[in-house]
Amino acid sequence: MILPVLEGRNILLRAPRDDDAIPLARYLNDYGVSGNLARVPFPYHLADAKAWLRSRRPDTTPDDANFSIELEGSGYVGHIGFHPCARGPVIGYWLGRPFWGQGLMSQAAQLCVDWFFQTSEAPAIYSGAFHSNAASLAIQGKLGFTETSRSWLLCLARGAEVEHIDTKLTLGVWKARRT
Ligand SMILES: CC(C)(COP(=O)(O)OP(=O)(O)OC[C@H]1O[C@@H](n2cnc3c(N)ncnc32)[C@H](O)[C@@H]1OP(=O)(O)O)[C@@H](O)C(=O)NCCC(=O)NCCS
Repeated sequence: MILPVLEGRNILLRAPRDDDAIPLARYLNDYGVSGNLARVPFPYHLADAKAWLRSRRPDTTPDDANFSIELEGSGYVGHIGFHPCARGPVIGYWLGRPFWGQGLMSQAAQLCVDWFFQTSEAPAIYSGAFHSNAASLAIQGKLGFTETSRSWLLCLARGAEVEHIDTKLTLGVWKARRT
């Protein structure tokens, strides 16, 4: 499946491109971003961004789909995407710090979740956040994700396991909220 372009009010989600590497490395080389993500090292170098972008494929399945987020007038501002896990598809996301607090990720996450459930046959999407990440938990709460459990997850940037709130959004809840 070739990734579509998903359009929001002032953002669009599109397949990652090689020329995302410079802004991607700049925004991800921020402990305030990587310290809230499980699998991103800190510091984060341009070589890390280039290697990650090379690993992305334009033809993919929904549960391995990755989108670059572009903001009108600013270009590349962050990332949202899925990765497959034993229990099911997991959604993750981040935004460069200059763009926080403008409702952009609420918009991007809604677009992405809608696209996923319209495209995939998965019965649920999994996510979560480190326990102190109120903004991310607020975004998930607005979409209908609910807490399922707590776990300890290795945060590469912090070099430590951090308490994680595990969440889930079922297809049934997503459908009910659309009507
Ligand atoms: C988390 C992150 C994606 C949020 O993106 P954003 O575009 O700033 O988020 P939005 O503006 O769309 O929404 C944030 C929501 O959290 C709320 N919020 C923010 N800080 C909060 C706090 N301390 N307590 C409670 N709610 C908070 C906001 O009020 C907003 O909710 P509202 O729209 O109902 O007012 C961004 O801060 C980020 O990239 N952080 C670093 C990486 C990260 O944490 N990724 C997620 C990993 S699980």
